[in-house]
Amino acid sequence: MKSTAMRTHMCGELSETSIGSTVSLCGWVSRRREHGEKLAFVDLRDHSGVIQCVVDNDVDVRSEYVVRITGVVRARPEGTVNEALATGRVEVGDCVVEVLNIAEPPPFPIDARADDVDEMIRLKYRYLDIRRERMQKNLRVRAKVNSAIRAEMEANGFLEVETPLLMPSTPEGAREFLVPSRKEHGSFFALPQSPQLWKQLLMVAGVDRYFQIAKCLRDEDLRADRQYEFMQMDAEMSFVSQEDVLEFIGKAVVAAAKAVTGEEPPQIQRITWREAMERFGVDKPDLRFGMELVELTSVFSGTEFKAFAGAPSIKGIRVNASQYPEAAAYGRNKLDALTDRAKKIGAKGLVWMKIGASGVIDSPVAKFLSDSERSSLLQTMGAVEGDLLLLVADDWETTCEVLGTLRNDIGRPPVHEGPYRYVWVTEFPLFVGVDPTSGRPRPGHHPFCHPHPDDLHLLSSEPLKVRALAYDLVLNGWELGSGSIRIHDPEMQRQVFNELGISDEEADKRFGFFLQPFKYGAPPHGGFAFGIDRLTAILAGEENIREVVAFPKTQSGADPMTNAPTPVDAPQLAELGLRTLPPPASS
Ligand code: AMO
Ligand code: AMP
Repeated sequence: MKSTAMRTHMCGELSETSIGSTVSLCGWVSRRREHGEKLAFVDLRDHSGVIQCVVDNDVDVRSEYVVRITGVVRARPEGTVNEALATGRVEVGDCVVEVLNIAEPPPFPIDARADDVDEMIRLKYRYLDIRRERMQKNLRVRAKVNSAIRAEMEANGFLEVETPLLMPSTPEGAREFLVPSRKEHGSFFALPQSPQLWKQLLMVAGVDRYFQIAKCLRDEDLRADRQYEFMQMDAEMSFVSQEDVLEFIGKAVVAAAKAVTGEEPPQIQRITWREAMERFGVDKPDLRFGMELVELTSVFSGTEFKAFAGAPSIKGIRVNASQYPEAAAYGRNKLDALTDRAKKIGAKGLVWMKIGASGVIDSPVAKFLSDSERSSLLQTMGAVEGDLLLLVADDWETTCEVLGTLRNDIGRPPVHEGPYRYVWVTEFPLFVGVDPTSGRPRPGHHPFCHPHPDDLHLLSSEPLKVRALAYDLVLNGWELGSGSIRIHDPEMQRQVFNELGISDEEADKRFGFFLQPFKYGAPPHGGFAFGIDRLTAILAGEENIREVVAFPKTQSGADPMTNAPTPVDAPQLAELGLRTLPPPASS
C-alpha cells in the first residue's frame, strides 16, 4: 500500500524481507506485555494485521491507544518466532512511540473473543467491532464482490445507471417504507423495494443493458438472510432470451466468487421448479446433501392402510444410517417431535419406519402393510438396514412441502459450510394458488412475468398449469436472486391481468404509470437481481448477513448504536402534516 505522511508500511506487510528497514507504522495498541524491567512488547494493529514492537517500558501506551511507531524491522530472537502470526518471524525494535490519541478501555476485547459477546453489545459499539479482523475481512470480501461484479458487467456492455430512492408506491409484494411529503400533506413517497420499475423503463428508453448495485428497502420481518435495507446487483437487458440473462448473471456471480475464493466455482446447475419440488420439496433446493424425496403413490395404490388409501400423492424420504447415524437412531421422543413438526406444517400425520435386519420394518403402521407393499417400498426407497423412512400422504403440495422441510431440518448443513452448490431454478409457475375471496389465481412472482411460450394455450383454461419465464438462483439452499423475461406486449399483459381478475380500468388505475410507457415501443426484455448481502455472507463464511453489513439492524429492526428508530418532535411532524397515534394499549 502507498505510504502516507505518517506511515511507510502497514503492520501486516512486514516479513523477513523487510529486515533492516526503518519503518513508520500507525494503528491501535492491541496488547501490551512487560518484558523485564526496561522493555515492553506492544502489539500494534491496523486493518492489515498485527506486528510486535519492542518499546521502552516507560512509554505509557494502553489498549486501543492510537499510536505511531517508528523503528527498525529485525528477526525475532531464536525461540520467540510465532508461526501463528503472519508477521511472527519479525518484530520492530529501537522504537520511537508517538501517542496520537488516548482511548478508554473498550467494552469488549478487540479480537476473536468478541465473537461470543452479545450481538446487541457488538452492534452498540459497531465501530469497535469493525476494528476486529473478522469484520475487516468481511467488509473487504464485500468490496471485492462489488468490484468484481461491476467489472464483469461493464466488460459485458452493461451501463450503470442510478435510479431514484423517492418514488411512488408499486405493486411488488413487500411492505414499503413511506416518506411523507412536506409540500403535499397526506401524500407519500415510497422507498424502492427494488429498481424494478425504473429498469424496465430504461429498456423502453433504449439503454439496452442496465445494471446497478442498488440499495433496496423492504419493511419485512428480519431474519438471518433479511435486512430492511439491502443491496441488489440489479440488471435488465433488451432483445434477449432467458438463456442470455442466465449467462450474463452467471458470469457476474462467478466473477464475484472467484474474486473472493481465488477459485473457479463449480458450474451452476439447472433444475426446473417442478423437479426441485419433486426431488427436494422446496423451490430453493440445497444440493449439498441427498435424502431426496421419493414418489411412492403407486407402491400404495391398492393399500388397506386407511391413512394412505386414496391419497393423491404419497412420498417418502430415506434417512440413511451411515450418513445420518443420529437421525436414523432417533428414539420415540424425537420421532414424536418430527410428527408434531410435520403436522404443524400441514400434514395429517407422519409415518415413520425403521428398517431392521433382512428388511424387517419397525413402524406403528407395519401391521397394515401387505408383503408386496413392504418389498416394493424397500426397493423403491433403496432402503437398507439401519435406515429411517419418513412418509407423508396428502396432496402434491403438502407432501412436497412437509418432506422438504423435514429433509432440511434433518440434513441441511449451515449455509456457509462445505462446497458451494449453485443452481438455477427455472420455469416457476406463473400463478400460485387461488385467492379465496376473488377465486382468481395469484401471481407467482409479479404480474409482469412472461408466460412460458409453450403454455400460452393454457392461460385461460388451466392457468395454474402455466409456467413463467421466471427463474431463481439458489446457493446452498438460500435464494440468491430472482428474475424473469417480462411481458412487453400490451395485449398479453391485458390477458394476464384478466386471469388475475384485474380489469383494464383497474390496471390503468393501479399500474398506469408503468403501463403507459409500454405503449411507446417497449422492446422484448428481461432481467434479474441477486442479493449482494447473501452472496457475500456465504462467500465470507458467515451464516448471517448482519456479519457482512457495516451497520446492520438487529433482528427486531433497531440500531442499538444510534437508537434508531427514534420519535421526532411535534413541530417536525406538523411540518409534514402528521400526527401519531398512541401505541396500542397492549404494548
Ligand atoms: P426479489 O424480490 O426476489 O426480486 O429480490 C431479489 C433478491 O434480493 C435479495 N433480497 C434481500 N436481501 C436481504 N434482505 C432482504 N430483505 C431481501 N429481500 C430480497 C434476495 C433476493 O433473491 N425486482 C426483482 C428482480 C427481478 O425480477 O429482476 C426482485 O427484487 O437475495
Ligand atoms: P391414524 O389412522 O390417523 O391414527 O394414523 C395412523 C398413523 O398414520 C399415525 O402414525 C399418523 O401419524 C399417520 N398418518 C395419518 N395420516 C397420515 C398421512 N396423511 N400421511 C402420513 N402419515 C399419516
